[in-house]
Amino acid sequence: MPLSFPYTRLRRNRKAAWSRDIISETKLMPSDMILPIFIHDEECKVNAGAMPGVYRHSISSAIEYAAMAYEHGIRAIAIFPSIDDALKNATGSEGWRPQNLVSKAIYEIKSNLPQMGIIADIALDPYTSHGHDGIIGDNGDVDNDITIEALCRQALLFADAGCDILAPSDMMDGRISAIRSILENNGHPNVQILSYAAKYASNLYGPFRGAIGSNHNLRNNSKKTYQMDFANLKEALLEAKLDESEGADILMVKPAGWYLDVLRELSNRSDLPVFAYQVSGEYTMIRTAVDTGMLHEDSILESIIACKRSGARAIITYFALDCAIKLCN
Ligand code: PBG
Repeated sequence: MPLSFPYTRLRRNRKAAWSRDIISETKLMPSDMILPIFIHDEECKVNAGAMPGVYRHSISSAIEYAAMAYEHGIRAIAIFPSIDDALKNATGSEGWRPQNLVSKAIYEIKSNLPQMGIIADIALDPYTSHGHDGIIGDNGDVDNDITIEALCRQALLFADAGCDILAPSDMMDGRISAIRSILENNGHPNVQILSYAAKYASNLYGPFRGAIGSNHNLRNNSKKTYQMDFANLKEALLEAKLDESEGADILMVKPAGWYLDVLRELSNRSDLPVFAYQVSGEYTMIRTAVDTGMLHEDSILESIIACKRSGARAIITYFALDCAIKLCN
């Protein structure tokens, strides 16, 4: 029988909540979401710049926050440091200094909450006086190969501290294989690499840069010589293919909501899990619109489910805990 009215009435399956629940193709679970946590080297918990409801935590407050997230079904956190300007320099050397803030946080959180997966960014922007993700070379641009050496030191430091997943977010060419061999050669065969494979030079990172305090360092300089042009899709597929061949365990698309085509295409093509990062600008737009009553609060869930429907196996989102609490009720 061909699809025809009235034998086919698609509204039949939508007639009641129980039926809609059963036929729902995409279910969001707390473990699908990863919670980003900002940390700083102070005892207090303060607002993280322009992001409503997001805080910079002390290490002990980050542990409490992570524990609460675990209780609500979240299985991994991603930590991001906000560093005092006095510790920043042109090479970002604080980024790989033994006992730096992130390595202490990884160690402390892992000791207190061993069942929680810990993800740490590999990049230098929280630590550089110019706010770029790498070290500037003689031509005034971020030098790929010198930066990779620094990233490898940082990767080893965080792996030694007990980090479960390293997430290179710098977009240097060849960093995945360099980090993979450092890990293999130093007794960390099981540390995962989550590659920010398709990371765009997006305008949506502003609130994050405020939260980690790199905005005033970067000023109006762009990251377009290493992050991707937001007009490109094929290039993302190439980036992903390379990272996969270099030994990445998980690929990521970032930002999420304006890049669902990239997510869909990548998750169709790759056999690796693909994550989406719903970034600070996406969070801030939706949060503000919901808080001021312009949008219904279910827009939050819609934005995250859209990522999962587009092929994301997990979503890094600042809404993770709020959503997990909602899903538990
Ligand atoms: C650093 C990094 C950025 C984000 C994650 N890691 C900022 C940037 O590349 O400038 C952005 C995350 C967000 O906006 O929520 N390399």
